[in-house]
Amino acid sequence: MNQHSVALLLLSTPCKYDKPVPQKLYSIALQKSNFETPTKTVTMTTVQYSQYAHLMKDNVDKTKMFLDMDQSKAYADSRPSYTDEMFKTIADYCKETNPDLNLAVDVGCGPGMSTIGFAKYFKKVIGVDVSETQVACAPKDVPNCEFKVGYSDKLPFIKSGTVDLFCSGESFNLMPQKETFAEADRVLKPGGSIAIFGYDVPVADNAEVQACIQKFGIKIFQFYPKETAQLLDRFSNLQLPYPGWIRNDEIKLTMKYTVKQYADFMKSTWALRAYREAHPDEDFLGDLTKELNEALERSGGATDYTVTWNLFLLMAHKPKN
Ligand SMILES: C[S@@+](CC[C@H](N)C(=O)[O-])C[C@H]1O[C@@H](n2cnc3c(N)ncnc32)[C@H](O)[C@@H]1O
Repeated sequence: MNQHSVALLLLSTPCKYDKPVPQKLYSIALQKSNFETPTKTVTMTTVQYSQYAHLMKDNVDKTKMFLDMDQSKAYADSRPSYTDEMFKTIADYCKETNPDLNLAVDVGCGPGMSTIGFAKYFKKVIGVDVSETQVACAPKDVPNCEFKVGYSDKLPFIKSGTVDLFCSGESFNLMPQKETFAEADRVLKPGGSIAIFGYDVPVADNAEVQACIQKFGIKIFQFYPKETAQLLDRFSNLQLPYPGWIRNDEIKLTMKYTVKQYADFMKSTWALRAYREAHPDEDFLGDLTKELNEALERSGGATDYTVTWNLFLLMAHKPKN
């Protein structure tokens, strides 16, 4: 798979859409490519998903996407917690220009999966999220981690020039970016660092399961906020605010999923909440559960499967003067 493009397996059978889906979306589905997972090569059909951003929702208030405790619990239970390789790569990058790893601030931290991996490397880590339910689901037993409700671009509880790492995982697309970078510049020490990271579309190591995941994934595609396209495009057009910034697309993330955990993964998305409001008579999660169980049955009766993402990581050092 091209590391800078977003890949998604598409079924050729159309799903129910509120807006017409261009025929092109389906014809692109005919292009086959290989996706490397740690255990095998999956042949899949790819699409440059982000070019269909015009199908996604306009004018979504991104600060109100996580208002529901069930959705936040599902997020905490089913989303990946990244890898130590990623947290170490970021900590090592920080040390290039600043030996202190005193304070990391993770904005858009959700229930903390992008935050707590830094606790091993930094003396103190603060996770900040605009959603009270997301913060309520963050762990409370990591002594050097603290979670706060707040905005990425307004961090009055953080003194200027005190932060060694300012980061955002799977969330920068939802934020006011210019203002968030300005706030990062205020709180960062000279020589401190910024890291923007995340993942795009998951790929399962089981063709039957992959087809099912993709079928249900595309059903809710147009219910994502338009800004999701930037994430699906791995921030390929984002410029970090300091010279000499770098990107890393080499780190993979794998996670085993049961059917229940995958249903939770879907439930953790704002898009599914919006889809269910638009289709109140449809049992999306019931149908997904049934079809995923059937897919596992057809492919040998396993009770779980492995999903892989390619992480992306953009990093910059704030100049010392
Ligand atoms: C997809 S979640 C990412 C959670 C976690 N960082 C992860 O890596 O899984 C995006 C989070 O960004 C938060 N968010 C959106 N806009 C925000 C803003 N302006 N300031 C702080 N958090 C924000 C949302 O509430 C949500 O919890």
